[in-house]
This record gives sequence, C-alpha cells and structure tokens, in this order.
Amino acid sequence: MTPFPVLFVCLGNICRSPLAEGIFRDMTMQNGREHDYPTDSAGTGGWHIGYPPDARSVQVAREHGIDISDLRARRIEASDFERFELILAMDRSNLRHLQDMAPRQTAATLALFSAYALGQEIDIPDPYYGGIEGFRDVYSMLFSGCRSLVTKFEAERASWSGNTSSVR
Ligand code: 4NP
Repeated sequence: MTPFPVLFVCLGNICRSPLAEGIFRDMTMQNGREHDYPTDSAGTGGWHIGYPPDARSVQVAREHGIDISDLRARRIEASDFERFELILAMDRSNLRHLQDMAPRQTAATLALFSAYALGQEIDIPDPYYGGIEGFRDVYSMLFSGCRSLVTKFEAERASWSGNTSSVR
C-alpha cells in the first residue's frame, strides 16, 4: 500500500509525542506494518531541540518493553505538512498552533489525538511538571488511542481491498 505517514505533536517533543511515536511504532511493528505507517514526532516549541525524551517518558516506555531513548526532539516545520498524511496534536493548544502554521492548501489531516483516535474531545495532559504517575497515566491514554488508531487503519485497509475477513 502507499505509505500513510503519521506525525504526533506536543509542546516540547520530550514527554507525550515521543511516547506516542514509540507506542505507535511498536504496535505497527508487531503487525508487520511499520513501513505502511511510518511515524515521527515533533514539538510546537523549540526549547528542547536535539534532546532525548524526558527520562520519565523513557522509563515508562521501558516498563512496557519499548525503547525511545534514541529519539531526539525537533520542532514542527513547514515540510511536515507535505510529508505527513495525518498530524495528531496531543492537546487543543498544540492543535491551534498547528492550524495557525499550516499552509492553506495542506493535504494533511490535522486533528486532536483523542478526538481522531477515540472520538473523545480530550487533551492528553502535559505531565512535565508532575511525577512519574502522570507519565503512566499519559502512557495508558496514548496506548488506548494508538490501539484504536491501528485498528481503524487495519479496518480501512480491509475495506479498500474488499476483504473484511482478513487484513492481509
Ligand atoms: P511535552 O511536555 O509537550 O509533552 O513534551 C513538555 C515538555 C517541556 C515543557 C513543557 C511541556 N517545557 O515547558 O519545557
């Protein structure tokens, strides 16, 4: 299939969006679909450019067997609106920022992560100023959302191929 690149966006690109990227990649790899759904993450702010994810995100990911320590923070850039089909914001403030900077004619779909994945208009809360439990809560919200995304994509794939009995 034509690859369907997905970008996760938060404020700093060190807490929520790298975790979302790691979870989503892990799920698509488990399905052998990582080349169909290439993924990345970015921040709307630039304070942490070049830095690895926050140690608490790395720890929580590791608790679930996912290594995100090699990711590096970057800022969203104009070319992202051409490279990615789907750009998912972690909270409404991130989404407004994306909508403000998106070129008028972008073909990318911009949406709130929870709204797109789960049909719930809720923010993934910024865990930066809290403790590890906040990161665990974020992980579980992201896990539910990513699972739903992957299920949705696979269902769409099956319907395109006219075969709902098998996704392969
Ligand atoms: P993130 O969390 O947007 O999930 O990466 C934050 C990281 C850093 C800051 C804010 C939020 N900060 O203000 O530096």
